[in-house]
Amino acid sequence: MINRQRLTQVLEIEETLFKRLHPKSQIASELSFQSLVGGVPMPWMTRLPGAFPIHVRQAHGAMLSDIDDIEYIDFCLGDTGSMTGHGVNEINKAITAQLKIGSTTMLPTHDATWVGEELTRRFGLPKWQFAVSATDANRFALRIARHLTNRSKVLVHDWCYHGTVDETLVILDEQGKTISRPGAIGPQIDPALTTRVVPFNDLESLERQLAYRDVACMLIEPALTNIGIVLPDPDYLAGVRELTSKYGTLLIIDETHTICAGSGGCTKLWNLKPDIFVIGKSIGGGFPVAAYGLTEELATQLNKEIFDHDVDVSGIGGTLAGSALAMASIRATLSHCLLPEQFEKTVELATQWAGGVENSFKKFGLKWSVQQLGCRAEYWFCEPPKNGAQAAGASNPQLETFMHLWAINRGILLTPFHNMALMSPFHTTQDVDTHTQVFGAALDALIN
Ligand SMILES: Cc1ncc(COP(=O)(O)O)c(C=O)c1O
Repeated sequence: MINRQRLTQVLEIEETLFKRLHPKSQIASELSFQSLVGGVPMPWMTRLPGAFPIHVRQAHGAMLSDIDDIEYIDFCLGDTGSMTGHGVNEINKAITAQLKIGSTTMLPTHDATWVGEELTRRFGLPKWQFAVSATDANRFALRIARHLTNRSKVLVHDWCYHGTVDETLVILDEQGKTISRPGAIGPQIDPALTTRVVPFNDLESLERQLAYRDVACMLIEPALTNIGIVLPDPDYLAGVRELTSKYGTLLIIDETHTICAGSGGCTKLWNLKPDIFVIGKSIGGGFPVAAYGLTEELATQLNKEIFDHDVDVSGIGGTLAGSALAMASIRATLSHCLLPEQFEKTVELATQWAGGVENSFKKFGLKWSVQQLGCRAEYWFCEPPKNGAQAAGASNPQLETFMHLWAINRGILLTPFHNMALMSPFHTTQDVDTHTQVFGAALDALIN
């Protein structure tokens, strides 16, 4: 559908325009190369296209501005870390107040109990613990599952992402063997020794792998979001629950991204029944926190370890996990943000965004597609994929780079991984219309 030569030409024009628009970011970037690996404090910050990263001056609500004084409608929202919108007043106030009276003491505060109760109300699991990142929460959940089941292996979906957790940075090769996923560096050991992998939406493969009865837990996103949005077939998640129970495998649901489905995530929306539940990113309103919940039964089984003298070297927990500041940030976030009435607005905005993109596809006769999960939506240069391998196979790096760069050059930021937009309550229908117009113009430049 897309003429490659034309694509290369328009991409070059956008790359030149990007440099012309961002002289200050270019200088800042050259300077930061002197002290930072890759010129950035965290490697993913190089993922947006453009010759160098734009340097941010400030972010507020749904907007972000850079040091060249360019404003952007921010549909990336720190890849979900700022799903509440940037700089929410109530969260700022709560964090500032807590900073004044002590940020961390390695002792509990009242806020922790409030947060535990609220997480139960939203997600159903009765007992909670905390971590500094979703990666850590997933690591702890895997460790607990192996410990309590006395089984060695974990099971994940092909092309999943659950943070920098060694056992989960895997895919299936063409022979159906577990291997490290492309790009994963320094695996501790051959991941085939730790991990079984099944395609998303494939209950037959799942049963075959569980039947070895060596799988402690299956760690899933209820819909894949990290290789693009891949939605579950109607009976898939019920089948996962049934099979994991049948083979004595614990089911861990990681809703770090799928909280976009609603205030109780997919777990509430689809009445899922995980044994362990994990969530990070958004619940701290931009502050680094994560939580994991356990059933009453698992929590009771863990009691011995929790009260053991050696709990500090158990491999779960961490010095700053559950700190007073972390608890204050979650309490403020869950009191004022990610609420049902806000989702009503943000889901509507995502539907409008998806509709705008679909209309452009129709106008240009493209058989491309849009997927939506709650307040997150994304376009594909193909039919909607059914599993991670299909999604990975559909990637079109040059076209993606062009679409992102075109948008950046016209004041719109998408999530750098895939073609994804996330809505906050601060976004407006006008912001979405701007995206629709800019998106249509990109296709026009490519095709006409
Ligand atoms: C589903 C899921 N789980 C866990 C993580 C890890 O989060 P963090 O990088 O904050 O540790 C991510 C990150 O994108 C994620 O998407």
